[in-house]
Amino acid sequence: LHFQKAHFTISAPDIRHLPADEGMEVAFAGRSNAGKSSALNVLTRQKSLARTSKTPGRTQQINVFALDDHRRLIDLPGYGFAQVPLAMKLKWQQALSEYLEKRNCLRGLVVLMDVRHPMKDLDQELIHWAVASDLPVLVVLTKIDKLKSGQRKAALMQIQEAVPGFGGDVSVILFSSLNKSGLPELEQKLHHWFAN
Ligand code: GTP
Ligand code: MG
Repeated sequence: LHFQKAHFTISAPDIRHLPADEGMEVAFAGRSNAGKSSALNVLTRQKSLARTSKTPGRTQQINVFALDDHRRLIDLPGYGFAQVPLAMKLKWQQALSEYLEKRNCLRGLVVLMDVRHPMKDLDQELIHWAVASDLPVLVVLTKIDKLKSGQRKAALMQIQEAVPGFGGDVSVILFSSLNKSGLPELEQKLHHWFAN
């Protein structure tokens, strides 16, 4: 499994337009601006595979990246972006819960959170949905380059203490797209999920 072989397949406006529910998929989710697209680029060693932006809400479609004939990475649109109309937000939440519940090929969910603003309501809800669907979750605390080492450890401990409350298989890592810290841990988890 070579993440650098990832290539763009399609942008889907909704879950009905995703590729056939076959093979294996791992999805990247999180609030707008959490660093999903940046993490995907670091993982795949491609500077601009997934479009990143300072403007929250950049990724509005579901972007599909194939690793090989039967393995895919999914960049989901961010949630929690204040300027999106409520009706659209609710529609997206509905789609997201449906995707987690019904997508058979889904092997795991990566939930990215800015380490400075972790575990907002929708983050928690998303983890609850994943656990309810028996999906393993990796919480990736991003942008740790913005914090001092002591603050990072405190943030990690705080989230690790909250995680057993979800039940299910939920683990947490620290990550930075800027200096690639946490990349080995992210890769290890994905290798595990994509195995066999
Ligand atoms: P949406 O597509 O809007 O949902 O956002 P996203 O979650 O894909 O975030 P994206 O990767 O586009 O990153 C948002 C902003 O945060 C960009 O300006 C990135 O350069 C910055 N960023 C992402 N990851 C990191 C990180 O680890 N460290 C720092 N310092 N900045 C980061
Ligand atoms: Mg994005």
